[in-house]
Parts: sequence; C-alpha cells; structure tokens
Amino acid sequence: MVIAVVITGAFIVAQVLERRDDSKYERRFLPPVESVLYTSECSSCHFLYLPGLLPAGSWKRIVEDSGEHFGHELHLEAGVAAELVLYLGANSAETTGAKRSGRILDSLEGATPKRITETPYIKKKHQGIKAIIYRRDAIKSFSNCIACHTTAKEGNFREANVKIPKL
Ligand code: HEC
Ligand code: HEC
Repeated sequence: MVIAVVITGAFIVAQVLERRDDSKYERRFLPPVESVLYTSECSSCHFLYLPGLLPAGSWKRIVEDSGEHFGHELHLEAGVAAELVLYLGANSAETTGAKRSGRILDSLEGATPKRITETPYIKKKHQGIKAIIYRRDAIKSFSNCIACHTTAKEGNFREANVKIPKL
C-alpha cells in the first residue's frame, strides 16, 4: 500500500516535471513557421514574421488589405488569401502560449494594428535604439527583425542572441 502510494506519487511528480519542461520551451520561444504557403507568399520582400507576433485580427486585416500593403500591391488569389487567414489565425499570438505573445496581446488591449513595430510592448522594448541605427545598411528598417535578432526564425528573441550590426 505504502509502496503503491510512493510509486503513484513519483509518477505524478515525474509527469508534472515533464509537462513543465515542455511548456517551458513553448513559453520562452515563439513557434517557428511551418506553412509552405505562408513562406512562399510572404517572405520575398522581408523577414517572415512569426504568426505569434500579432493577434488574429491583425493578420486578417493585413491579408484583407493586401491590395495596399505598405506601398505594394500583393495580388493574392481569393483562395490563397482565405488559407493565409486560416493559418495565421490558427497560429496567432492568442494561440502560442509564449510569454512574448502574451506581452504583445496585453499591451494591445484589443487593438489590431497592421504592424508588429506599432504594438506598445515591441515599441517599449526598442525605445533605447536611436532612429539612426535602423538606417545602417545591414538593418535598413525597424521591421527587419532578423538583422539584429539572429535567432528570430526559431522564435527566439532573447537578449543573449541580439547582435546589432555595426554598419
Ligand atoms: C512585394 C513585397 C512584399 C510582400 C510579398 C509582402 N510584404 Fe509585408 N511588407 C512589405 C513592405 C515594404 C513592408 C514595410 C516594411 C518596412 O516598413 O520596413 C511590409 C511590412 C509588413 C508587416 C509589418 C512589419 C512591421 O513593421 O511590424 C507585416 C506584418 C507584413 N508585411 C506581413 C506580410 C504578409 C502576411 C505577407 C504575405 C501575405 C507579406 N507581408 C508580403 C512588403 C511586402
Ligand atoms: C536594430 C536591431 C533590432 C531590430 C531591427 C529589432 N530588434 Fe528587437 N530588440 C533589439 C534589442 C537591442 C532589444 C533589447 C534586448 C533586451 O533588452 O532584451 C530587443 C528586444 C526585443 C524583444 C524583447 C526581448 C526580451 O526578452 O525582452 C522582442 C520580443 C523583440 N525585440 C522583437 C523584435 C521584433 C519582432 C522585431 C521586428 C519587427 C525586432 N525586435 C527588431 C534589437 C532589435
């Protein structure tokens, strides 16, 4: 009886620890992109933004307004647009369980901007960076996350992996 209780107890503790370990990864990092369609449609001009960086409402607006996309016309077929909205919505900031998605959502208070760089949390995290730094050749824009966040593709935005190009 005692042994059974001890074994059951150890089993439960082991399960809890294992679960914690799994969720730790999820909470620290944003899930990387796994959609071939999203990659082919949305990565030719800039870093392929992780869906967990914006709420579903933002992604819907971005795809719906693709005829006027930051000065460019994207020409998305209706079926492609619908699939993108589904994929981005199913992987948006509301769904990732990642700490930084949560911070973005909290800071937005329900707003759905079309830029990650216009969310209060992301703006605040970069307030120490002078505008002139973004103009460096290897950066060009605040929107170019991968220029400084060397592991952005893997969803890892930790400070240890930030390297601001000197030129
Ligand atoms: C023809 C080029 C082009 C393609 C293709 C393209 N974009 Fe963009 N996108 C831009 C430009 C230009 C900007 C503005 C970048 C800047 O300000 O430096 C931008 C900005 C963005 C931003 C805002 C970045 C920020 O500042 O936070 C998001 C989000 C975005 N695009 C999503 C998408 C999605 C989703 C697709 C696919 C449906 C897509 N883009 C395809 C040109 C493109
Ligand atoms: C010019 C370089 C640069 C660019 C471009 C840049 N960042 Fe950053 N980012 C930084 C620096 C520096 C920090 C501060 C490091 C810190 O305190 O964690 C930071 C912090 C962050 C943090 C907070 C990390 C933490 O743990 O506190 C996130 C999330 C982030 N950036 C996301 C982005 C995203 C998304 C983009 C693109 C839309 C972007 N960054 C563009 C340099 C950059």
